[in-house]
Amino acid sequence: MLIIRSVCELKKELSNLKGEIGFVPTMGALHNGHISLIEKSKTQNDYTVVSVFVNPTQFLPNEDFDKYPKNESNDIKICKNLEVDILFMPDKNEIYLENEPKILAPKNLANILEGAVRPGHFDGVCMILNKFFNLIKPKRAYFGKKDAQQIAVVENLVKTFFMNIEIIPCEIIREADGLALSSRNSYLDEEQKLYALKLSRSLLKAQNLINQGQVDTQMIKSEMKTILEPLKIDYIAFTNKNFQEISKIEINNTIILVAAVVGTTRLIDNIWI
Ligand code: PAJ
Repeated sequence: MLIIRSVCELKKELSNLKGEIGFVPTMGALHNGHISLIEKSKTQNDYTVVSVFVNPTQFLPNEDFDKYPKNESNDIKICKNLEVDILFMPDKNEIYLENEPKILAPKNLANILEGAVRPGHFDGVCMILNKFFNLIKPKRAYFGKKDAQQIAVVENLVKTFFMNIEIIPCEIIREADGLALSSRNSYLDEEQKLYALKLSRSLLKAQNLINQGQVDTQMIKSEMKTILEPLKIDYIAFTNKNFQEISKIEINNTIILVAAVVGTTRLIDNIWI
């Protein structure tokens, strides 16, 4: 496995590759969720490139950029074990110039849900992925459904800029107790982890109600709220796969999304119906 830190070296190595590239962008502190994406890329491509880069432009000024979990040696070990071909770990100065054009995510996606709570977040996601996609020119790029709205933003980005990249959505990986894996779970102590379980439990409750024939989102939402108490709920939302709000569950075309704060840690989770 090549560990590359400069854009210049990455370009050189990529020019030697003959075949299809699968790309897995990450911010590191790799866990089984990231691993599942890398494993999928390995099965579908000749080469797999993983990036580890904590992207400053997608963090708001009051967010956790400075304390975002880092574990470089473990990330390298994991990628080596998975036989990743190239691990790209650039420094911020390799990626961002002082003056450069900005990309704004479209309002219909950027101003709702995660975008409403984190204004500008998806602009930063678009900026970094636009750079990585241009640089790496993957055939396929792998994203977790955990960040459902991010997938919609990325699909829009690829379509808008006529990029010939297939976006592959991958299933959410959870702990045995249901907690969706996240690098930010490392902020939680044991007691907070129990509270964090309320997110997946509320989604499970929604799934059970739907299995019993319930289609009214308001009714499902109030049941979810009861489970989520006493957490601070940022949102409970019911959308179709185009991220338009719906009032009745549509089987095979519904995403239920929840965001809540445990202690000082903001967590998100969702389920695809
Ligand atoms: P990060 O949070 O590190 O996540 C990298 C990828 O792993 C994302 O596609 C995310 O959805 C996926 N992922 C995280 N937890 C997962 C889980 N439990 N199951 C399945 N997939 C999971 O998302 C980002 O980084 C950044 O925004 C990035 C795309 C790298 C741009 O900076």
